[in-house]
Amino acid sequence: MVFEPKILGFLCNWCSYAGADLAGVSRIQYPTNVRVIRVMCSGRVDPVFIAEAFINGIDGVLVLGCHLGDCHYISGNYEAELKMKMVSKSLSMINFSDRVRLDWVSAAEGNRFAQIVTDFTEHIRTLGPSPVKNKKIKKRIIDNLNAVKFAISDSRLRALVSRQRELTTEGNVYGEIIPTEEFEEILNNAIKNEIIRHEILEKIKNKGKSVLDIAKEIEVEPHKVLQHIVTLRARGLVDVDQINEEIPTFISIKEA
Ligand code: FES
Repeated sequence: MVFEPKILGFLCNWCSYAGADLAGVSRIQYPTNVRVIRVMCSGRVDPVFIAEAFINGIDGVLVLGCHLGDCHYISGNYEAELKMKMVSKSLSMINFSDRVRLDWVSAAEGNRFAQIVTDFTEHIRTLGPSPVKNKKIKKRIIDNLNAVKFAISDSRLRALVSRQRELTTEGNVYGEIIPTEEFEEILNNAIKNEIIRHEILEKIKNKGKSVLDIAKEIEVEPHKVLQHIVTLRARGLVDVDQINEEIPTFISIKEA
């Protein structure tokens, strides 16, 4: 049977949706694999929407907005660019980033809309169905996607991403400009740490465990696990379960 990808398309109201409309009224041919969700601006697409789409078995996600400089809300598409970068980085850590794309289509570009949809559909067809549909690995993939969802939901990470332009061009409160490579490294580490924290929460969801046990299970050094436990305790997500022979065990106390 030929694989027909299910693609979710978030189209901004003012440019890309109008571009899709123009493709329709101009009778330009393009694949029918994209299910369109109209949003007021590409900047409205919350990264969590994308993680949720993949968790629910969508094969690919396309986000289309106005060209840079043309956003109806001035900077919405610049915000979208930053958010999608965070999504892409997070998804690349679980080999999923190939299934998401951000692009620009104006209201006058019906042909461009059709071309982007055609190219992306072909690209997803080449990648094959989402691994979420593979029963043998479904649980592992969904766990990974939930870890990404946890990471990209974090308000601290989002605040960091939203300040990228300011920190790398104008500088922090002390006037220090952070080089782009350094910022990228900080961002990568922040994402990795959130993914590890989610993994820890999953391991202690139903049963309290010691730092050493958690470290063995997730293959992370014990002192790093302890640092994450301290952070998760400060966020009110973890507490001490028991203390056996002076060794504490920790348990998740909130749904992450
Ligand atoms: S209104 Fe189109 S990207 Fe903001």
